[in-house]
Amino acid sequence: MRRVMILNAKGGAGKTMLATNLASYLTSNHKSVAIADMDPQGSSLAWLAARPEDRRPIQGIDGIDGPVRAPKHTDFLIIDTPASVYGKDLTALVRRAETILIPVQPSATDMRAAAKFIDELLDVGKISRKEVKLALVANRMREAGRTAGFMERLLQSVHIPFATQSTEINETLENFLKGMKIPLVAEIHDSESYLLADSQGLGIFELDSSDAERDVETWKPLIQWLESRRSIPRIRKKS
Ligand SMILES: Nc1ncnc2c1ncn2[C@@H]1O[C@H](COP(=O)(O)OP(=O)(O)OP(=O)(O)O)[C@@H](O)[C@H]1O
Ligand SMILES: [Mg+2]
Repeated sequence: MRRVMILNAKGGAGKTMLATNLASYLTSNHKSVAIADMDPQGSSLAWLAARPEDRRPIQGIDGIDGPVRAPKHTDFLIIDTPASVYGKDLTALVRRAETILIPVQPSATDMRAAAKFIDELLDVGKISRKEVKLALVANRMREAGRTAGFMERLLQSVHIPFATQSTEINETLENFLKGMKIPLVAEIHDSESYLLADSQGLGIFELDSSDAERDVETWKPLIQWLESRRSIPRIRKKS
């Protein structure tokens, strides 16, 4: 079973959007999928509750009130997490993951918050031991095409105003991420399709519209990365 966690301490970054749409993609492709919701807000479980019964199944696991035990033969366990997780809580969460997706919105404030969060993540033992693979997902990118590469440009221009164990003060975020080998695996657009799908307990992969088709395209690099060895740590540990 693959364990994919969606993580970013910044609220509203797109964790639940990523978790629910990824689950929608995987179940649409005949994988057996469970979502563990570790957020007391329960947004992923609420999305599941709104899901029509005639759609392909996704198992919901309440990670707050019970143990996170996926049913037998689950192919993918997607773990949605709350905002504002730090310290011991972060370490405990990371223990459950082997692949971590970090959604980041392309504003300077969000980027700085992400840099700081990643800095803390890198101190978590399991990550420093390279037992987890990390990737960034740029979310809510505006105006497809015109902003292509925007994230990279932003990455180049933002300076991290704090020191990390392995980088100099003021090293650019891009170099920082490169040094940490954290790839940017997708640029997801700001799109009504996500709101439309969300309101029906669906993902964009289950919508029947040309707008949604354009959005589906933006997920391809992320899916390819997830399906490749690059997203699986060489050292795999049961947890
Ligand atoms: N690419 C997108 N296009 C349009 N709307 C989006 C997109 N991504 C997220 N949203 C919307 O932004 C809001 C916040 O997203 P989401 O709930 O996924 O963030 P979150 O990181 O899970 O938040 P929290 O930290 O509160 O759990 C939601 O209303 C969601 O529908
Ligand atoms: Mg959420």
